Amino acid sequence: MTINGSTRLFAIVGNPVHHSLSPVMHNTAFQALNYNGVYVPLHILDIQAGLQGMRHLGFKGASITVPHKETVLPLVDEVDEIAKEIGAANTLVFTPSDIPGIGKVKAYNTDWLGSNHALEQHISLQGSSALVLGAGGAAKAVAYGLLRAGAKVTLCNRTQSKAEELAQALQCQWIPQEALAACTGDILINTTTVGMTPNVDRSPFPATQLRYFQVVMDIVYAPLETQLLKDAREQGCKTIDGLAMLLFQGVEQFSLWTGQKPPVQLMRQALIDALPA
Ligand code: ATR
Repeated sequence: MTINGSTRLFAIVGNPVHHSLSPVMHNTAFQALNYNGVYVPLHILDIQAGLQGMRHLGFKGASITVPHKETVLPLVDEVDEIAKEIGAANTLVFTPSDIPGIGKVKAYNTDWLGSNHALEQHISLQGSSALVLGAGGAAKAVAYGLLRAGAKVTLCNRTQSKAEELAQALQCQWIPQEALAACTGDILINTTTVGMTPNVDRSPFPATQLRYFQVVMDIVYAPLETQLLKDAREQGCKTIDGLAMLLFQGVEQFSLWTGQKPPVQLMRQALIDALPA
């Protein structure tokens, strides 16, 4: 690819950001479609200054990650209705102007779509029952997507008050951690960091209870097969690894930015190739 005066600029903005797999995923897609774009990681502490810089530099799009997903909302010109409802954005689309610095920025959330698409490859969400472990930002997007698709959602979190609070905001159920051992449903999703490298032997859910679920998804992708997914496979569940949500939220971003059909399989392979050994 030749970088020239017409190259469109994209970035992932966060703190930290050096570990992100999004650059390899999006740059692979740009190259495959011969799209004149480049996507870089930007370690930005002050999102207000960072956004202003991107406006002036003529960026076309950005992914927003921790800790800026919520704080970016009041800084943009327009917030998509769903991002408003979720209270967080992971995607920015810039509409450039001929005068640098005054282009418009709109914020979207594709995290919930990523999670829904990953699940819908394996199960119909309408009418299903789902248990979501965790009550942070990822849990919020996942649970929102499930509810929007017509699933019944139950939340469970180490800090119970956060599960209660999120359940109230989303109008869904929650259970205390002690109730996990007897919990059943169609779908189980882990949105906590439990099982992530280096604590690879840990799982957020009792292994033998997994047999009462059809589909188990983990958003942890290091390692790709977490202890939870290994247990779930052994109990006969369909498993969805942590690259799926990352992939599909990125696929949606790519469509928003370029208006083109993303090369999904190539993007997934690029993610797998980029995973630390
Ligand atoms: P994210 O935006 O990725 O969801 P987050 O908002 O920091 O990140 O949320 C992390 C989630 O993982 C929380 O639900 C957290 O539980 P607490 O609310 O009790 O902190 C959960 N989590 C992190 N480490 C955990 C652990 N060792 N055991 C259980 N839950 C854990």
